[in-house]
Parts: sequence; structure tokens; C-alpha cells
Amino acid sequence: MKEQIASIISKNVEGLSTEDILSLLEVPPKPELGDYAFPCFRLAKTMKKAPNLIAEDLKTAISGSLDFIDHIQIQGAYCNFFIKKDIFVKSMLQAAKQENFGSSDIGNGQSICIDYSSPNVAKNFHVGHLRTTIIGNSLYKIFSKLGYTVHRINHLGDWGTQFGKLIVAYKKWGSKEAVEQRGIAELMDLYVKFHTEAETDDTLIEEARAWFVKMEQGDEDALSIWQWFKDISMIEYRRAYQLLGVEFDSYNGESFYRDKTQDVVDRLEQANLLTESEGAYIVDLSDYDMAPCIIKKADGGSIYATRDLAAIFYRKETYHFSKCLYVTGQEQKLHFAQVFKVVELLGYDWAATQLVHIPYGLVSLEGAKLSTRNGNIIYAEDILLEAISKVKEVIAEKNPDLEHPDEVARMVGVGAIIFNDLYNQRIKDVSFKWEKILNFEGETGPYVQYTYARCSSLLRAVPDFDASAEIDYSVLTDLDSMELLKAINKFPKVILDAAEKYEPFLISRFAIDVAQAFNHFYNSNRINVPEDTIRNARLQLVAVTRKTLRDALALLGIGCPEQM
Ligand code: ARG
Repeated sequence: MKEQIASIISKNVEGLSTEDILSLLEVPPKPELGDYAFPCFRLAKTMKKAPNLIAEDLKTAISGSLDFIDHIQIQGAYCNFFIKKDIFVKSMLQAAKQENFGSSDIGNGQSICIDYSSPNVAKNFHVGHLRTTIIGNSLYKIFSKLGYTVHRINHLGDWGTQFGKLIVAYKKWGSKEAVEQRGIAELMDLYVKFHTEAETDDTLIEEARAWFVKMEQGDEDALSIWQWFKDISMIEYRRAYQLLGVEFDSYNGESFYRDKTQDVVDRLEQANLLTESEGAYIVDLSDYDMAPCIIKKADGGSIYATRDLAAIFYRKETYHFSKCLYVTGQEQKLHFAQVFKVVELLGYDWAATQLVHIPYGLVSLEGAKLSTRNGNIIYAEDILLEAISKVKEVIAEKNPDLEHPDEVARMVGVGAIIFNDLYNQRIKDVSFKWEKILNFEGETGPYVQYTYARCSSLLRAVPDFDASAEIDYSVLTDLDSMELLKAINKFPKVILDAAEKYEPFLISRFAIDVAQAFNHFYNSNRINVPEDTIRNARLQLVAVTRKTLRDALALLGIGCPEQM
């Protein structure tokens, strides 16, 4: 209908294409202003007439020509279109009923790499890594829904001089049992111990360097200890991923590129981009107001940036990406700007448009009172487990007969954390308060899940309901039903916007809007009434609400319990 309105407007005005008109046609904020509104301001110049007069003329010209339009009203410079209610309801309901509602093939199979989560081996998986994991996972779901082929890459921080230090510390003060028992916590303690001791003992740093050189040269002893540290760390990361329901297609981290950094150096040398500086090799970026990008250290070793450059070329050749996204905290902004600029300077002009850093804000834990394992270090896994156990308490108190309480507690607890993380623009800091996150009546994950479960229970109550039957659409022309349908029908556009801006929060807001609209509808309309016509029509609306909420939460990486 929107297309048809745009097309008929375009035949009656000058200076705007049908596409322009389509993008100008808006859904008014209030139902009194119609179902679609067209602002005439931009036509004033080309048509040399006051916008309100253009609107009046447009109304006269097109009144009666589209049979689904009930009437047109002029409000200032706006042409407000009122669609015949039952026709509008039918078209919205039928669109939303499609199994693939919201999906599209706009991505056309194009390849996108998303580099996210990427914790540093032997260090804990902390709240910051929780954010990249949650945001990256949601972007993966969003782009997949739009027909892109997405490669989920965990660029593990598993290479670098810190492993030399860890090996020294382990050999001097560690034990196999302690590492096996305490895992990452023990490795972190060893690392701290190394630094304390190194303050008074200069030989330690030298030893650590020597061990890392051994690693780089492929020494078996060194590499087997390193591999063991990595395996121990992976066990803990995988536990967090499992709780979150997150998976990756590749765990090629920094170590994977250790034999591919020489190629980076060669490319830069050939392009005459390397300069020597105090024994190190750098790319000078002063023309771009950036600090130089170090490529090779004075001792010949590669660094984080070199390995990222190698990864870009590897990914381009392997995945032929049309975009490569990096989800990390905003403190890495400069790092990515430097790396992307170096790729561009090598003559790859795709760098400027295809390599995208996706930064996010901090998590502030004030008032959250989280239990910690050692010192003040907060493990993501502990936050997830704590959320789950808090939900379990609520279930035990409020709904002790609930089936599968553990599974429900996991979905709701984890869902609450994910939803809170994705409720605002990425760049905003996330505050963390249990009362807020777990409030079943606030703008939260549990609220949306609860609304979903309510829809499920309404449908369960009428087992012979046929979702595909024809219905009387006029039953759903009351204000609340129509507002709910309108909210639901924004889904396809919301997904496109979320992808374009790399902003999952648009999906969270959408889910809240639909849940709130549903609860208005539910409060003003009885569903399980004796009249078949009314009951069937309302149940169809319940069914599309349920499906849409489920699909929206799925895009955030959140599951839906049937009962809670
Ligand atoms: N390991 C890094 C960190 O924890 C994040 C890596 C991001 N990805 C990348 N290709 N640099 O801060």
C-alpha cells in the first residue's frame, strides 16, 4: 500500500522520484494523524507553491483513485492518508503471518566477517568481553536474517610476550595441580607474581623474552606449555559461550598469524611504507594525525597490529568479505584506525568502506554487588550464573510448580543480562543493577519473555484454534488491535536499520514496543470469548505477536520459555 501511495503521489507532483517519496512517507506518531503521512515541504521549491497548498492540491488530485484509502486529511503541510481499517488490518496481519516475516535476501549471500569476543588467553573472560560477545552474536543473527553469509571469528589473544612471562612464572612458582584445579585464576596469579618479582629481579624479563623467542621459533617444550594454558583457558571460555548460546566458525586467533606476519612486512617494504625508528619498523601516519603504526619491534618480533594486518589479508583471501566488522571496546579506536589506514596506504581502497570498527561503552557495576572469585576481578560466567540463580529463587517463590525450572531460569537469567546489554546504543555505558535487569514489569528481557509466555498460554487454552483459517478482519479494527499490528509491522524496517547502523538496541526497543502494545490489547480485549469470529480473529493476533516476539528476541540471542 505504501508503494501504491508513493507511486500515485509521484504522478501528481514535480521534482521528487518515487523512491524519494517512499522514503519521505512516514508512519505518523499518533493514530489521529492517519496511517501514512506525506510531508510536502520539499516540493515547495520545485513546484513554486506553498507546501500546504501543494498538500491541498494533492488531496484533490488523488482522492478516490486508490480503493484502499478511506479518506485523506490535510494537516498543515502534511497529507495524511487514512486506510480503510479492515483492508489495512488484513494486509498487516497477512504480512506478519509469513514464516519469514522480517527476513530478506538483500545481503544476497555476500560475505561478512564479524570479529568478536576474542578474549586474551590466560586472562579472565570479563564483563567487557561479555559485551563484545553479546553484540557480535546479535549482529551475526541480524545479518544472517538479511541473507548475508556471516563468518563468526574469535580472534583469540593467544600470542605475545606475555606468554613468555607466564612460562617463566609457571616454571618457577607454579604447579600442574594448581593450574588444573584453579584454571585461569591460577594463571592470572602467576602473571601478577611475575610482575611483582620482576620489580627486583631484572633477569626475569630477559628469561621471559627468551621463552617467547623460543615459542616463535617453534620450540616444542615452549609450545606445549603454551598450548596447555590455551586449552585450560578455552574450557572456561566455552562454559560462558555455552551459557550464552554463542558459537563461532573460527577460533583463529593471533597465534594463527604468526607465520603470516612476514608477508605483511614484505608488502609494506615493497610499497616503501616502512621507516626505521630506534631499531623498530613503523609506518608513519603523521599525515593523518595518528601515532605511527609499529610493525616490527626492535627484537624482530611482530605485535598485535602486525597480526591484525595479516588477519585482514587472510580473511580477504579466504572469505572474500564485503565487510569485516570488529567489535571491541572504544579504547581500541586508535588501533583500528591505524591498521585500517595502513591497509589503505597499501593501495587497497576497499579498506575505507569494508573494514569497520564497532566500539561499545563500558559496563559500570556500581550497586550490582557481584561475588568475585579472587580479588576484585569479575568473571562474566559468575554474572551469568548469579542471574540464573536469582531467577531460580523467583521461580521457587512465585511459581513452584513450573515445568523445567532450570531451563527457564537459564533462559530468563541470561536473557535479562543480554537484553540489558543491548537496550541502549552500543557506545553508551551499561549500568548493572539486579533490581532493574530482572524487573518483570520494566523494559527488560524478562518482561518481553513474560509477554511471549502469556501469548503461548492463551494459545494453549484453545487447542482447536486454526491459525491459517480466514478471519473477519473487522474484529481487529479497534484502536489497540491496530496499534499492536502497526508496531509488529515495523519489524522488517527495524531489522534493516539495525544492520545499517550496527545497532542491536533497535531490535530491543522494537520488542518492548510490541510487548507493551500487546499488553494494551490484552487489557482491553477478552480473547477466549464464546463467539467464534471474535475469538479466532484475536487469537490470530496473539499468534503473530508471539511469533514476532520470539523472532525479535532470537535476533538478540535470547530464547523464549513457553511458561514462566
Ligand atoms: N584480544 C583483544 C582484547 O581482548 C580483542 C581482539 C579484537 N580483535 C582483533 N582483531 N584485534 O582486547
